[in-house]
Amino acid sequence: MPTSCSFPCQRSWISYHPSSINLRSHRFVVASSAAAGMELSLTRPDDWHLHLREGELLHAVASHSARQFGRAIVMPNLKPPITTTEAAVAYRQSILKALPEGSVFDPLMTLYLTDNTSPEEIKLARQSGVVFAVKLYPAGATTNSQDGVTDIFGKCIPVLEEMAKHNMPLLVHGEVTDPSVDIFDREKVFIETILEPLLKKLPHLKIVMEHITTMEAVKFIESCSEGSVAATVTPQHLILNRNSLFQGGLQPHNYCLPVLKREIHREAIVSAVTSGSNRYFLGTDSAPHERRRKECTCGCAGIYNAPVALSLYAKVFEQAGSLDKLEAFTSFNGPDFYGLPRNTSKIKLRKSSWKVPVSYPYEHGEIVPMFAGETLEWLPSNN
Ligand code: NCD
Ligand code: ZN
Repeated sequence: MPTSCSFPCQRSWISYHPSSINLRSHRFVVASSAAAGMELSLTRPDDWHLHLREGELLHAVASHSARQFGRAIVMPNLKPPITTTEAAVAYRQSILKALPEGSVFDPLMTLYLTDNTSPEEIKLARQSGVVFAVKLYPAGATTNSQDGVTDIFGKCIPVLEEMAKHNMPLLVHGEVTDPSVDIFDREKVFIETILEPLLKKLPHLKIVMEHITTMEAVKFIESCSEGSVAATVTPQHLILNRNSLFQGGLQPHNYCLPVLKREIHREAIVSAVTSGSNRYFLGTDSAPHERRRKECTCGCAGIYNAPVALSLYAKVFEQAGSLDKLEAFTSFNGPDFYGLPRNTSKIKLRKSSWKVPVSYPYEHGEIVPMFAGETLEWLPSNN
């Protein structure tokens, strides 16, 4: 295992990536950066895109999200995927069992859309009170997407019409899977060939474009009517660009899908999110994989960021001089879009250094978090 390579190399990301403080805004950034010891009190954030897995992995990661977030939209890409309300209810029970005692964390469940999902299943989902959305994985786009949709226009329109009727959002992994399309262009081509025509056909369908990565996605979101289409944004797509995949050697722990993009795209997303627009909200896409499945000849896509996400979002808003807009992004825009109440409890983020563990071991493996072994600046706490 290339352990001797990955950590020294990782150290160079953080000294490298504050390329996010670009020269143009440097003076402003210095003037606006928060003083050490400063404390922010935020309405408890929710995570609108989270992979909790199952079994040992679920038990290893659940508390990291539950400690900081009030609720999370839990992705259904298990093996086999969560395609029915009945399976979602059972999965929710297993998540609740994995939470630390006394936790009030509320997992919001989703269904995995297939070519065969029926409109009847959407009615059941709405009635259940625990399923809040349906996830579209184009077949072959990402981890465990092989059972996903092969032809949305040919197979899924009746079910999407039913969702529009129930005001149930469609959560979209927005990448085409055509192998002839360059991997860095797949989001842009998805917008042109799927999302725009889909919205024309079903203008009342609520859509969340998940983990946006490009300026084209920002343009698309801004062009839609407010309250009907929104986007989640991950810490990695706000902090890293595609150089981080190769900085000092191949960096498997920076590999996720959609893959990191050029700096101009990262800058476009940072501007959109820190502008204060209510069309964007927090979705970590925290996607743990056992270390051996990341550091191998065909490594899995997914970055484990749950323990560091809030620190990183705070850093992005601080560097943009927009800390006053952080709370809307972490805690208001998501529930407002989903039509759910905002959380009432608070958390604190203190500007003080803390060291990210090099890994989180569990019985039969370990998980390497984003920025493993690095020092971050904003420390979340419950009191
Ligand atoms: C996710 C996973 O591992 O489940 N991976 C990722 O790179 N983001 C799936 C996904 O959201 O694409
Ligand atoms: Zn995801």
